[in-house]
Amino acid sequence: MLVASNRGPVSYTLDETGELAPKRGGGGLVSGLSAIGPEAGAMWVCSALSDGDREAVRRGVGEPGVRMLDIDADTHADAYNGIANSVLWFVHHMLYQTPLEPVFDAEFRRQWASYEAYNRAFAVALAEEAAQGAAVLVQDYHLVLVPRMLRELRPDLRIGHFSHTPWAPPEYFRMLPDDIAAKVLSGILGADRAAFLTQRWADAFTDCCHAVLGPGIPSGTRIGVHGLGADADFLRARAHESDVDERIGSLREQIGTAPDGSPRRSIVRVDRTELSKNIVRGLLAYGQLLEDEPSWRERVVHVALAYPSRQDLKVYRDYMDEVGRVASEINSRYGTADWTPVVLHLKDDFARSLAAYRVADVALVNPIRDGMNLVAKEVPVVSDEGCVLVLSREAGAHEELGDDAVVVNPYDISGTARALHEALSMSPGERAERTKRLTAGATALPPTRWFLDQLHALDD
Ligand code: G6P
Repeated sequence: MLVASNRGPVSYTLDETGELAPKRGGGGLVSGLSAIGPEAGAMWVCSALSDGDREAVRRGVGEPGVRMLDIDADTHADAYNGIANSVLWFVHHMLYQTPLEPVFDAEFRRQWASYEAYNRAFAVALAEEAAQGAAVLVQDYHLVLVPRMLRELRPDLRIGHFSHTPWAPPEYFRMLPDDIAAKVLSGILGADRAAFLTQRWADAFTDCCHAVLGPGIPSGTRIGVHGLGADADFLRARAHESDVDERIGSLREQIGTAPDGSPRRSIVRVDRTELSKNIVRGLLAYGQLLEDEPSWRERVVHVALAYPSRQDLKVYRDYMDEVGRVASEINSRYGTADWTPVVLHLKDDFARSLAAYRVADVALVNPIRDGMNLVAKEVPVVSDEGCVLVLSREAGAHEELGDDAVVVNPYDISGTARALHEALSMSPGERAERTKRLTAGATALPPTRWFLDQLHALDD
């Protein structure tokens, strides 16, 4: 069995003395594959992403079962920053803003050629590594051309493709130039099976195939749905290690106590600082709550953990600045000598994320669109005292958790403010009941099961 993804399970940092240090990545795919163990004989093909990774490839340093591809840095930048993150990600999350975007010009065509070269490098490596009849699981929007390229090189292989993002509806998807739209779809249709996190995204993919390629799924590719759940055992154990306890202490200090001496309530969010996560509207909704319901002033703190992501792209750097600006505005408008309404942390720290999950009274998960959103599933599992989930109806997780969350339209700032008020006002009994049901839903499909289900479905 082989797995292919842009970001692999390990990356290397290079220090001043020239030493390489490996760092294991997180995420469902990594834990799913680790859980089935190295004895499965799996090989993971991924891309070198940093200088440390490239140096590791040159020195022949690596982990058993991982092959990192040292693709020319400019080609990778065009494919990853240019096409994958600025075009395909934006299409599936419906993030473009008229009148200037999107721009499909000569520069786009040049980057597309790099995206094809990048996908070809993966297809060639997979064709080299795969035993006769092996199963190959190709991941995400970075590698949509790989299934068809690989099928041409190695017709004996069983190929699956999995999309971790939403899929755009045809009216939006067809913004892509017609030939590119067709290549994206037929690339994935080179697989025996194309799978998605929810039925909604699978249906959108099928609708796009009909709209762009004509009726029927031409290659006979099967379409599947596998919702990814939280890894409860791992999270519960990790959330009770000493570094998490330490961070709980400092978070509680930052949250502080209300004028009557009771602990303040907390509204927590944890995201990559990503446009689709809708962090700014979340902050504005919190500001609106403080305006509309002054009784919450000095009694609540919004803990926003907004970690840097894709900082090579200006639009992401600008978004990060905007998050900081709006948070400061709320603090200067409503803050007092001993109350900071928004506590914003920008430095990536998994232990602090888990600490925030444990202390959260309310978790705000309000993406514009999201393939699944694992934060929505992780918070109830880890929460110490129960937590109310305010959840966007546009997150994949809504399909499984919607009944037990307070559901919002992510564009509606006033509606989100009302939802926060409702969540903060919920009785402890109701909160505990909901947390119990959310936990059951969130852990129904742990990563190992998610992974093995895909593998078995490919065999059927
Ligand atoms: C999403 C994508 C993943 C990606 C992750 C982090 O979850 O579906 O494929 O790895 O974001 O983004 P990055 O660009 O840092 O890999």
